[in-house]
Parts: sequence; structure tokens; C-alpha cells
Amino acid sequence: MRTANCKLRILKEPLYYRQLDSTNDFLKKFPLPNGSVVAAIKQKAGKGKHGAKWVSPPGGLWFSFLIKKKVKEPYMYIILVSCAIIDVLKQRGIKARIKWPNDILVKGAKLCGVLIDNDYYGGKLVVGVGMNVNNRPPKVVGMKTTSVSALLKRKVELDLFLEALLEKLDLYLSNAKLHRKAIISKWIKNQVDVKGREITIRKNGKVIEGVLKTVNKDGSILVSMKDGKEKVFKGEIFFI
Ligand code: BTN
Repeated sequence: MRTANCKLRILKEPLYYRQLDSTNDFLKKFPLPNGSVVAAIKQKAGKGKHGAKWVSPPGGLWFSFLIKKKVKEPYMYIILVSCAIIDVLKQRGIKARIKWPNDILVKGAKLCGVLIDNDYYGGKLVVGVGMNVNNRPPKVVGMKTTSVSALLKRKVELDLFLEALLEKLDLYLSNAKLHRKAIISKWIKNQVDVKGREITIRKNGKVIEGVLKTVNKDGSILVSMKDGKEKVFKGEIFFI
């Protein structure tokens, strides 16, 4: 199945597969052009953050896109994708918030996750989006989950939803340089307040614990350490 009605400048029309292991892995593996978008009705080995499995049955929106350049600031793509998702949900009457760094929540329940695979030296960045839409939201220990259809109390046309999201995302990607400041402000404004939460950071094989003080506009965070000192972290692996 192919969606052919999108008005896109950077992204390409999505290629739909009945089943893939992971749309992120597919784009990492095959030599496709910049802006390629791959969606799967079902993923057999969907990946979540920190190597977790991402349950991806039919009915959900599972897709990834490819940016072929050496990206020094991959967090900027999380910002663009998160803002596009927030906008498209808002158009459908859903007020979603961004939980730093890459979750989209509605009333505290996780609706969507974003996963970035950045191969800087290979000049390939893959951004994957997983959203519970018409599928039953998976049970996750320690976290509430939801879906678009549960929130709207009706099923949603997946192709149209993806089309709307890609158009919005394409707009954000096209405007990223020109409106960088405004986009980052919007990202900050739409965040769930995570200040004061305990955070675990993995850096060079070490595990560091602290309390999150601020999420900065450059995607870094200010953490209050156990010894009372404050430290800025960027690009490390966080658990919150
Ligand atoms: C998270 O853990 O919150 C991120 C989940 C990202 C899941 C999406 S589904 C499409 C793409 N392909 C994958 O294997 N993972 C991402």
C-alpha cells in the first residue's frame, strides 16, 4: 500500500510494508534516498529506547524516516517530531504533552515514543515514531499507556493520520533553521514538568544518580548530584 496524496518537500511518500522486524532497522540497513519514510502494519521486533522491545501490533502507527547527513545535534529531530505530533493531535482535539526526552503523554499516560538511531560517521540518522492509535495500548510496568482511539472513543483512519503527521513534520523540517528558536520554545512550553525527578545517567559505563533541575534549550540537562554539586549532561543515556 502506498499513500500518494502527501504534499512533501523533504520527506518522501511513505512505503508501507505488511510486516517488518523494525522500521528503524530497515532504514539503517538499506540504501534508500534522503527523506525516505517506511511504515509497517506490524513490527516483529520493534525497538524501544535503551534496547527495550516495542510492542507493535496492527492498528498502531509504526514508521521511521531517514535523514542522510552527519547530524551533530540529533536531539533537534526529537524536538521537531515531538512538536509535529503535538500539533497533529491538537488538530484532533487531543491535548498531549512532551515528557522529556522523547515520550508523548496524554493525562500522564504514554501515547507515543520516538527513537533516534544516529550513525554520525555513516551520515545516516533514522527517526522512528511509535504511536498507539487503533491498537490496544500495551501493558507497561510502572507506566500508564493510552491510544488515540481510546482517547477519541472511535477508530482513526491510519493512512490519513500518517499523511497529516508527515505533512506537519515536513513543514517543521523545512522550517527548522529559520524558526529554530520558536520551535525550541514551543517544545519547552509543551513539556511535562520533570523538575525534581530522580534521574539515572549512564556515562562511559558508569551509573550516575541525581535530581533533574532543568531541561535546557540545547537539549542538555542540569542535574543536582548527590555530593551537592550541579552538572550539565548532554547526549548520555537517561532513565527518568
Ligand atoms: C520509546 O521507547 O519510547 C521509543 C519507541 C519507538 C518505537 C518506534 S515504532 C517505529 C520505529 N521502529 C522501531 O523499531 N522503533 C520505532
